[in-house]
Amino acid sequence: MSEFVNQEAKKQEEVVNTLPRIGSPAPQFEAETTHGTIRLEDYKGSWLILFSHPADFTPVCTTEFAAFQEIYPKLKEMNTELLGLSIDSVYSHIAWVRTIEEKLGVKIEFPIIADLNKEVASKYGMIMPEESKTEAVRAVFVIDDKQVVRAVIYYPMSAGRNMEEIVRLIQSLQTSDQHGIATPANWKPGDKVIVPPPGTQEAAEERVNDDNVECIDWFLCKKEVK
Ligand code: BEZ
Repeated sequence: MSEFVNQEAKKQEEVVNTLPRIGSPAPQFEAETTHGTIRLEDYKGSWLILFSHPADFTPVCTTEFAAFQEIYPKLKEMNTELLGLSIDSVYSHIAWVRTIEEKLGVKIEFPIIADLNKEVASKYGMIMPEESKTEAVRAVFVIDDKQVVRAVIYYPMSAGRNMEEIVRLIQSLQTSDQHGIATPANWKPGDKVIVPPPGTQEAAEERVNDDNVECIDWFLCKKEVK
């Protein structure tokens, strides 16, 4: 292999291996979608769930699309938009959403990126060549209203995603931002939240004597938020 081909292969590998990190700015893009050209910056001020699926007209993806549409009104109430992506054409996406409406009675209202040149998928590390060289895996990127990556979920081809968990994740992130708290395992809105652990001995002493928090020990205290 020539040095040039080698370098190109290496560059390609680096692009494929790119994974936006939690806390980093979301990679900017401009893409063709079923709703026309969309740029990431169009979503400034809203939260965004950018998700990829392996291919149109496949069974698991079809169930996921109906399920994403089902949670879409709830997401909108949380100032959160949905944007799908696969390495298929706009025509394929249009035909597929029409089929979903005809066969399942579900009208897909959110846009889907037609990422035929894999530009967005590569920027977001959605292609895992060990799984498929031509299709995106089931990735979910939660991008906040300031366009920072806040959470990343990856699922394999064989497992459809859990929509309740995606809604719960947005609720947790937004509650955490609003109150400066964290949320425990299996937390749901209305449950008590975790108060950040105290950083000094004195604060630890105060914490365990604070009537407004419920402590199992000085480092594990919960409280209610409204
Ligand atoms: C599906 O959505 O059913 C699927 C897509 C790609 C590989 C395997 C399953």
